[in-house]
Amino acid sequence: MNNIQPQAKPIRHFDLTAQQKNISIAGQDATILTYNGSFPGPLLEVKEGEVVTVDFINQLSEPSNLHLHGIFMSPEDDKPHRIVQPGESLSYTFEAQPGSAGMYWYHPHAHGKVTRQLFEGLSGPIIVRGAVDELEPIASATEKVLVLHDITLQNGTVAPHAGMDWGKGKEGELVLVNGVHQPEISAPSGLLRLRVVNASTARYYNLNIPGKRLQVIGMDGSFLEAPVAMETLLLTPGERADILLETTQAQELQLLNLPYTRTPAGPSIDTPAAGMVLAKFNITSEPKTIALPTKLIEIPELDLTSATDHKTIIFGATMQPLQFTINGKTFDHHRTDLTAKAGTLEIWDIVNPMAMDHPFHLHTFPFQVLSINGESTPYRAWKDVVNVPANCTVRIAIPFTKYTGSVMYHCHILEHEDLGMMGNLEVV
Ligand code: C2O
Ligand code: CU
Ligand code: CU
Repeated sequence: MNNIQPQAKPIRHFDLTAQQKNISIAGQDATILTYNGSFPGPLLEVKEGEVVTVDFINQLSEPSNLHLHGIFMSPEDDKPHRIVQPGESLSYTFEAQPGSAGMYWYHPHAHGKVTRQLFEGLSGPIIVRGAVDELEPIASATEKVLVLHDITLQNGTVAPHAGMDWGKGKEGELVLVNGVHQPEISAPSGLLRLRVVNASTARYYNLNIPGKRLQVIGMDGSFLEAPVAMETLLLTPGERADILLETTQAQELQLLNLPYTRTPAGPSIDTPAAGMVLAKFNITSEPKTIALPTKLIEIPELDLTSATDHKTIIFGATMQPLQFTINGKTFDHHRTDLTAKAGTLEIWDIVNPMAMDHPFHLHTFPFQVLSINGESTPYRAWKDVVNVPANCTVRIAIPFTKYTGSVMYHCHILEHEDLGMMGNLEVV
């Protein structure tokens, strides 16, 4: 008999306390919602292979809970159905899986209360690091996490939603990056790595940096296979992007949000044609040779002929009262809407017959986007949110690996989610 002890996995522990706090935003004092008194909440940084426990403590005056958006974890541990009453706490545990290096985020998921709790300030970023992060040139890039979150302040607090806001999705008057209006961020020349989270309830960001190409190396919770150069990158609520910028000399750069039309009302009224400035980068000169990485990870091409089911998800809405639906039904957490078999591959068509866009999100299981209106996507990526433009159909492929249990899928315009645009999938 040998006496080899199984090696204990490294453990990482965080506390997140949801609490009201009076803070100063863009020169105004206001009481908003925070995690640990900070807005946005603190960055949770972990490594692949670590067992992570997050203790959530609810010091709000109403029910809440925590959802670790995009993390590949057992639905039983994700438990977005579980409600944490005021004064109570709940802990969430997951193992950061090998290959899961990427950008994630956390926010409340108590149905009916998600929109307001998020709009009032509750969200924060998560980074899982892995081997690719340690390879050059990525390892020596200057990294900045940018949490995009809009808010409207009024009389020292957060402005309420008006009736109309629930239909379109409320866009806050103050567009903030890490809680600051138009921050100036300094970085040395070389490779600048921007890790952007759209933590807004409804606002889309059409990202652009004049004079630069966005070298996108990751989306949501995964790297891409190789950098993809883009002029603009649309980031819907819930989506994340990992972007490299090459700079060789001292210069000023602006991160812009260009107009984008997501509803029949046209682009956001506060977005000028030339774009809204989100942040400024002050690049200081530090001559070094830079090169982009060429190969990041391997993303398998899925064998679609092995798909065992083909499902259709159709978005809709009803008026008076205003409700949003999936396949004609509003959300009921006691109802199972769809079932899938663990270990199988499925193809889903997300059909949006409406005149406005909806970002579709599935918990737990990352998917690949195959096509939009029949046109195939130019590169492979693992995603957990995908925009479904007005009058379009997006086809995705989902491998149901490793876990069973009940997972949610919903529109990530949170007003729509709270008003019913969500369903339950049982993986058996
Ligand atoms: Cu980011 Cu079910 O949500
Ligand atoms: Cu989620
Ligand atoms: Cu929606």
